[in-house]
This record gives sequence, C-alpha cells and structure tokens, in this order.
Amino acid sequence: MNASCPGPVDSTEAIRLQLRSWTEVETYLQSCKGVIVPLGSTEQHGPTGAIGTDALTADAVALEVGCRTGVLVTPPQAFGMAEHHLGFPGTVSLQPSTLLAVMRDVVLSLAGHGFERIFVINGHGGNIATTKAAFAEAYGEARRRQLSVAPQLQCKIANWFMAGPVFQEARKLYGDREGQHATPSEIALTLHLEPSLEKLQRPLPEAAPAGPIHGPEDFRRRHPDGRMGSDPHLARADHGASFLDLAATALCKDLEQFLSHQSP
Ligand code: NI
Repeated sequence: MNASCPGPVDSTEAIRLQLRSWTEVETYLQSCKGVIVPLGSTEQHGPTGAIGTDALTADAVALEVGCRTGVLVTPPQAFGMAEHHLGFPGTVSLQPSTLLAVMRDVVLSLAGHGFERIFVINGHGGNIATTKAAFAEAYGEARRRQLSVAPQLQCKIANWFMAGPVFQEARKLYGDREGQHATPSEIALTLHLEPSLEKLQRPLPEAAPAGPIHGPEDFRRRHPDGRMGSDPHLARADHGASFLDLAATALCKDLEQFLSHQSP
C-alpha cells in the first residue's frame, strides 16, 4: 500500500466522502488506502453546552486532519454510547451492542472496497471500549468473508481530547476546572465552530465532582446539572481555535504513522 497521505487540500469539499462520486473513490483507492471516520455522541453537556458537542468537535477535527493530509473523511457517526446521559432531555444513545454493530459494519463496508487503514477520530470517552470491541469483531468477520484486505486491515481510534498537547493546554488554561464532562476545552471548540452557542454561556455554580458512572438515574442524582467537575464558563472561542489546531496537528502525526505502518 501507499505509505503516505495524498497531501494537503484547499477545502473540505475535496476530502468529504459525501461529496465524492464512487468513481472518484475508486481512483483515490489506487493511491491511498486510508480513511477517517468521525465518531461523536448526541448527549447533554451541562446546562450551557450543546447536545451535539462531541459530534461537532469530532467532525471538525476530522475535517481539519482530512484537509491537512488529503485523506477522505466519511460522514460523522453522531450517535454514540451515552446511556448514562439519558436522564437529560435531548440525549440520544445507542446501546453498546448497537454501536458495536454500527462501527463493525462501517469498518467492513470500507474494508470491502479496499480501505486498509480505518482511522476513527472520536469525541466521546464513552465510545472507546465499544469501538475497540467493534474493531475486534470486524477483523474476525473480514477474515470469515475472505475480504482481500483482511490480512492488512488495521483500525485505530484517536481521541482528540486526549491528545497530549490538547490535554496539556486544557490543564494550563483551566487547571482542575477542566473536569471530566462538559469540559471548557470541548465547549471552547464548539464556540469556535458555532458562535451562536456563545449566548448559552453563563456563570454556573460549583459542579459536582467526577465519580464512578452507573445508570442514568444514578448519574443525574450525582451530577444534577450534567457536569462532572467542570467549569465551561471558562471556555473562549479563541481557545477553541487553538484546541482545533493542536488536536489536528497531533492527530495528523498519528495518522501519518498509522498509514505508513509505523504506529507506535
Ligand atoms: Ni463531550
């Protein structure tokens, strides 16, 4: 397979799978076997954060990485595993088994066309375990279906919010008030992407601290306004622009290594 990315493009149009024809995808596959799949969640993000935070942010980071590398980006999978947030209106969750089936089938569809490197850019911690399980199922099923790419197929989940430079910047800007859910870093990125969200921002009382996660009723009892130890009022749109750049820079490096077999 080609060991490098196609190279930077000027606009997202060029790398959005939704805007390409099948013949263009066929041509693309002759020089690059990599594809990016944005994965988010549709879940409450505290009283001042957008329900779509995890999907908006994952898609934005994926498109930025796509532009910088020329690697195709699929439509975002905007529903994730958010069972513990179902106590809050607006949350739409897939059960783990459903998300597993969705991600397995996404990987197998792409692998069937010859994609050998599936790079999932994820915006929600609750998706991680299930997505890794989906990869394990996809590898087995690709072998059973005798897909030609089965021996080469590799999938990776890259969590933009856990990238080293993003994590460090969030600590520097917000310290402990970054918290665990509805964090100022992710809210900052949504403010950069969607300025209209600024009007939701207001000071909030001290958030309940992070703790173990169980069912939706338990979660709402422990975290009455949905936040876990965070102060999203610290978020600024210009911080968001910086998080997008840091995340894209870190994930481009990951992706380039992943495509060239030098994944650590
Ligand atoms: Ni989130």
